[in-house]
Amino acid sequence: LLASYSVDINHGFVPFPDPLDQLPLSSKFGCWEVIMKDLSGYLHARNVRSTILSRLEVIPIEQGDLLDERELQRALLVLAMLSHAFVWGEQPVSTYIPACLAVPWVEVTRKACRLPMLTHSLMVLSNWKRFDVNKPIELGNIALLNGFLSGTDEANFYLVTIELEDRGGKALKHMLKAQYFAGKENEQDVTNELKAIENIQKSMLNTLSKMFDRVDPYIFYHRVRHFLSGWKGNSSLPDGIVYEGVSETRQFLHGASAAQSCLIAAFDVFFNVQHVSDQTRDFIDEMRLYMPFKHRQFLHMLGEHAHYLNDFVQKSTSKELRQAHNACIDQLVEFRNKHIQIVTVFILAQMRKSDDETSSSARGTGGTVLMPFLKTSRDETKIKREKF
Ligand code: ALA
Repeated sequence: LLASYSVDINHGFVPFPDPLDQLPLSSKFGCWEVIMKDLSGYLHARNVRSTILSRLEVIPIEQGDLLDERELQRALLVLAMLSHAFVWGEQPVSTYIPACLAVPWVEVTRKACRLPMLTHSLMVLSNWKRFDVNKPIELGNIALLNGFLSGTDEANFYLVTIELEDRGGKALKHMLKAQYFAGKENEQDVTNELKAIENIQKSMLNTLSKMFDRVDPYIFYHRVRHFLSGWKGNSSLPDGIVYEGVSETRQFLHGASAAQSCLIAAFDVFFNVQHVSDQTRDFIDEMRLYMPFKHRQFLHMLGEHAHYLNDFVQKSTSKELRQAHNACIDQLVEFRNKHIQIVTVFILAQMRKSDDETSSSARGTGGTVLMPFLKTSRDETKIKREKF
């Protein structure tokens, strides 16, 4: 069942087998990879735009191209990174994406039912390799395939997130089982599944905390995050962007955001957390469009069964079951609190030090006004705690 949603029983939304590290250099797409190999160097030299314009031509995508799923994902990552490097890699920012990137990018994204944008699923889930394929997907055994400016802090920002996705992905099977047992009104089994989920949530929180040790806030703020930005809700590109050779009309699309993580969305769906306020609703709904199509379908399926658990917990008189449920909600709140702490240290404090803008109006790379969004998401989670 899970495989039909491109979800793995042990890894969740992290692709299995491991992502492809490169499109064949001998293929017609090899020219993209040649630039990817030295992308950081071009960014350091501030010649990424002239390199792309002089070395790439418009390559048409034909029916038989990129039929292999790993190749398709790799092409999506490469075109998205090259395009974001083109836009954000030199000052002033570019208000267009050149045809040599935009045309194949839009064609490949259509083939994959994706938006032409760098997303969480590409930059994180499709962007790692294992040193030893027989060992787990965790820090110490994974490396980033491609970065923008690169370096320890950029790599670790994504690697910590990959470990988090892999650990958290193990919760999905327990979610499905909990829904099944709730449908059967089997209190003990539901309780056991919720306890398993709580333990996984604890390990997710532990991984998230590693951001503080492994990523330097100054480097993150000044050298990592802006490449993830988009062209919607971003004052640097108030009029959106033109995908040259595709359409003259300016396009508006959100940058990469943790709200595009199907894993985080799955926890909300499973526990029936309602993001209904003005600060959260539209953005969270819209982020679904930035997720891989099959993963969206998985969330839909999980949501269709969410009432089994919800109704069962509400009417249950088992103290143990209700405690197990509340412990999971507490973990989800703690997770969101940790995210708020990270944003405070890695974004708001850095903003203050650089006199960039007032931190109360600080926006995330996805385009939300950060603090109201994050705090409201947290508070909407808190109210799911059952009283007894
Ligand atoms: N969404 C994160 C930020 O705003 C990456 O920096």
